[in-house]
Amino acid sequence: MTVTLSVEPTASAPALFLRPWQTEDVVALVTAHRDPLLRRWLTTSLVGDAEAHRWIDDQIEGWATGLRLSFAVLECGDKGPGHPVGHIVVKATDPNEAAAAVGYWTSAEVRGRGIASRALEVVSRWALGSQRIMPLARLDLLHAVDNHASCHVAEKCRYVLRSVLPARPPAFPCKGHLHVRMNSDM
Ligand SMILES: CC(C)(COP(=O)(O)OP(=O)(O)OC[C@H]1O[C@@H](n2cnc3c(N)ncnc32)[C@H](O)[C@@H]1OP(=O)(O)O)[C@@H](O)C(=O)NCCC(=O)NCCS
Repeated sequence: MTVTLSVEPTASAPALFLRPWQTEDVVALVTAHRDPLLRRWLTTSLVGDAEAHRWIDDQIEGWATGLRLSFAVLECGDKGPGHPVGHIVVKATDPNEAAAAVGYWTSAEVRGRGIASRALEVVSRWALGSQRIMPLARLDLLHAVDNHASCHVAEKCRYVLRSVLPARPPAFPCKGHLHVRMNSDM
């Protein structure tokens, strides 16, 4: 079963289409990962086609195991969805608490159009809703305190700031924000 999600257009932004990553997305993925902001804030930076292929294989495997549910985000034009311009992932963290963590990025050329917040909203509703692939009661969202754009996306999508986490170098060199959204908040 392939899960796809849609977001209606707004007065100023086109509709969005979300679907699992596919092998054909390698070029868009490598291009997006050339952006210094992506390299700064993501723990995984992809360089070259081989790494991108492996990453896409991991996303496909994630759907097969039900432990990593990720979506490529595409803007829709007159001819339908274009190439991927963003990514949203729901990663299983604690099955005993029915908890998962979300992650996201958008390509440099499309930022500020509400893509991350609109895509995260639809994925959060879906993940905390009636889907049975990874039944969830809670979604966690972690970002570095200096990542103000990410904090804004979290707040727009009603992820409540729960705590400030200490730095844990080398992986997390600065403090973090933990935001949480519960299925009871739907
Ligand atoms: C964070 C990120 C995904 C936001 O993507 P986006 O598509 O531009 O997000 P949106 O257009 O939905 O914008 C979200 C809000 O953040 C605001 N914003 C953008 N940059 C900001 C900044 N530097 N400081 C404060 N707010 C900012 C926008 O104005 C917008 O608010 P508004 O709609 O009220 O105007 C994007 O900047 C990104 O890919 N960053 C690199 C990867 C990353 O940091 N991922 C998250 C890791 S936790």
